[in-house]
Amino acid sequence: MNKATASKVIVTGGCGYIGSHTVIELQQSGFDVIVVDDLSNSSAETIDRSVQITGKSPVFVNLDLKDEKACYSFFKEHQEASGVIHFAAHKAVGESVQKPLMYYQNNFFSLINCLSAMHELEMNNFIFSSSATVYGTPETLPITESEQTQRPFSPYGNTKKVAEEILEDFIDSTDKFAAISLRYFNPIGAHDSGLIGELPSGIPNNLMPYITQTAAGVREKLMIFGNDYPTKDGTPIRDYIHVVDLAKAHVVAIQRLLDKKKKKNYEIFNLGTGIGYSVMDVIQTFEEVSGQKLNYEITDRRPGDVPFLFASTDLAKEKLGWVAEKNLSEMISSSWEWERNFRNKNK
Ligand code: NAD
Ligand code: WQD
Repeated sequence: MNKATASKVIVTGGCGYIGSHTVIELQQSGFDVIVVDDLSNSSAETIDRSVQITGKSPVFVNLDLKDEKACYSFFKEHQEASGVIHFAAHKAVGESVQKPLMYYQNNFFSLINCLSAMHELEMNNFIFSSSATVYGTPETLPITESEQTQRPFSPYGNTKKVAEEILEDFIDSTDKFAAISLRYFNPIGAHDSGLIGELPSGIPNNLMPYITQTAAGVREKLMIFGNDYPTKDGTPIRDYIHVVDLAKAHVVAIQRLLDKKKKKNYEIFNLGTGIGYSVMDVIQTFEEVSGQKLNYEITDRRPGDVPFLFASTDLAKEKLGWVAEKNLSEMISSSWEWERNFRNKNK
């Protein structure tokens, strides 16, 4: 028998970039949090930092969710949790092209082990971290959730598309299980405290950490991947969203699943601001907020990049009552603040 209480939430991958911000928002909204993470792309220090911010300590379990038995034991131990937010996955697009099997293994086995344990233990509320990458090259803009998904360019992206399909098939086979997939656009930014933020291992793939690391002197220059796209300045347009806004959407999503009147079997929501900015817009805003010139050079297009990607945010607004609140300057200044704090501490 499931002894669900409304207040405990399991966060897989809760030491990572988006997970750690979500842990804080959950705690500040009154939830008790159980973090499970194998620290393959994060550090347990994040937990100490979140305690500094909220004054509350989450339970932390260091565990690889690919390990089926260990995963089941973990869920059994914490079966009183009322919901699960599943962030744990590998996420580097380039690495996934080099090591596709590692990506399929980690992202699928972790998901399937979590779902199997939950099924066995009658734990029924699940939030899945998906990505706008499932839209491939979209036919219409802004992209609505009803847009047909396409095979993404990378094995990483494909893990998200197929994971959504696995989730849907599983939901179709059960009565009680309910899930929400959240398709993130481009998360950037860091917590206002300056204590947690994005910490990519090795050379960053993504634009924002590459910019802040270049400005901090860790990288020599940013290479801009093409300026011959059919956009206003030739560089691709993306929908950047502040990680704290994103984290807040997870709180609202879990609350929706816990509300019997609102909960549906399966729903999908885009999480973006609905506003598209070019790479040059991001650089210009960075230079404004930091008061610093950025060293950059134009190079060839990066394979797989699409010219335009921005969300329709109507569904999240209508059903979740959620809208992103922070603008591009706030996103970029918090990323820069985090980078500077981190580099100063580690001098
Ligand atoms: P992250 O790498 O910072 O966090 C993922 C966490 O999961 C890490 O702490 C890692 O140690 C942990 N983890 C990985 N495999 C695990 C396993 N087998 N067992 C236990 N823990 C494991 O990544 P993030 O940016 O916070 O992304 C979180 C989720 O959001 C991921 O599923 C990612 O694919 C998805 N997502 C991220 C972005 C983005 O741009 N950051 C965009 C769309 C979707
Ligand atoms: C943004 C723009 C690049 C780096 C990726 C994943 C997606 C999702 C979010 C997880 C593009 C340009 C970048 C650089 C550059 N992640 N750029 N020089 O590609 O929109 O999305 O992260 O789910 O799945 O694909 O984000 O930050 O890599 O790139 O010019 O060194 O910046 O060409 O136009 P992307 P990004």
